[in-house]
Amino acid sequence: MIGSELKTLREGRGMDQRAFADHLNGRLGRSYDKARISRWESGAERIPSQVAKFVTAELEPKVPHPKRSIILAIANQKGGVGKTSSAVNLAYLLAIAGLKVILVDSDPQASATAHLGIDQAEAHAAGTTLYPALRQEKSITEVVVPVCDGQFDLVPSTIALANVDIELASDPINGGPLALRECLAPLRETYDAILIDCGPTLSMLTVNALNAADQLLVPVQTETLAGLGVSMLLDTANKLRRRSNPNLRILGLLPTLYTSRNAAEKMTLDELHALFGGVVRIFDPIPRTTKFTQSARAQMPLLKAAPNAPGAGVYHEIARTVINHVTAEDADVAS
Ligand SMILES: Nc1ncnc2c1ncn2[C@@H]1O[C@H](COP(=O)(O)OP(=O)(O)OP(=O)(O)O)[C@@H](O)[C@H]1O
Ligand SMILES: [Mg+2]
Repeated sequence: MIGSELKTLREGRGMDQRAFADHLNGRLGRSYDKARISRWESGAERIPSQVAKFVTAELEPKVPHPKRSIILAIANQKGGVGKTSSAVNLAYLLAIAGLKVILVDSDPQASATAHLGIDQAEAHAAGTTLYPALRQEKSITEVVVPVCDGQFDLVPSTIALANVDIELASDPINGGPLALRECLAPLRETYDAILIDCGPTLSMLTVNALNAADQLLVPVQTETLAGLGVSMLLDTANKLRRRSNPNLRILGLLPTLYTSRNAAEKMTLDELHALFGGVVRIFDPIPRTTKFTQSARAQMPLLKAAPNAPGAGVYHEIARTVINHVTAEDADVAS
């Protein structure tokens, strides 16, 4: 393969050189950078055969064409358990696997918005947040911004969402527990995967997210009493399944911030398996590492900066589960 062919293929996928380097790194476990891609494309450096082979094979789509969209809520009323880190990294992995992805930040703290380098105040001033869409002042498609070098999209959050609980509760016609479902519906026409990062409460907004979702992923920190919070959330999900969202399924529990040599954390993990193992899927734990916090500061998904970071294999496994869902044959069942 020659440089100009590589350039054509890259541009055909709508990626700039940096995004393409990330894409290769994620797939091949390498650490190529923008400059290297540029040298390959100009012919200044030979394209490694592994890269040429990979790129050629990619002409065939990796992910069979999605047959339905998925709305995945990432929720746990407990704070600081890795919801946002998981949402941001999963959005990235699904995007580089070839899905059209959007992340909806429904947390008034706007952590995902900040993590992806969007200034909350600017987004609020520009009216490109979830708030006006939920209030039916704008269509959801008008409040979408590209993030992560254009690899996926975001509906930013704003602190103004802190008021929305009262507004939703006080207006059962325009608000109520199904407002977000209706608000997000148009996204299904464009996106294969719609992820909702929830705030750390079982608020009206979180209930709205669970009513909008097809699947729920519950990050859970391996600390004492973790099981109690999970029970509450699963009870809520069951009630909503009976009353308002029969489609809701539990994708799984994701133990996070795990230190295997900490006996108490290991005990909590065992407890989670004993309590919920027969009921829901429990993914392998995400190890505790400061790299997640560093990546949030660098305003980038960790797995984009460091494709082989601790926990990468688990996030890839979750992404594969989501991909299986959107490409499943029984596509007409719940889309
Ligand atoms: N596996 C991990 N190891 C160490 N730190 C982590 C890990 N995952 C997340 N963190 C850090 O822990 C903090 C909380 O993570 P995160 O924001 O993802 O949780 P959250 O559940 O979304 O929090 P909140 O409830 O406030 O929305 C952040 O500083 C994040 O960088
Ligand atoms: Mg969060």
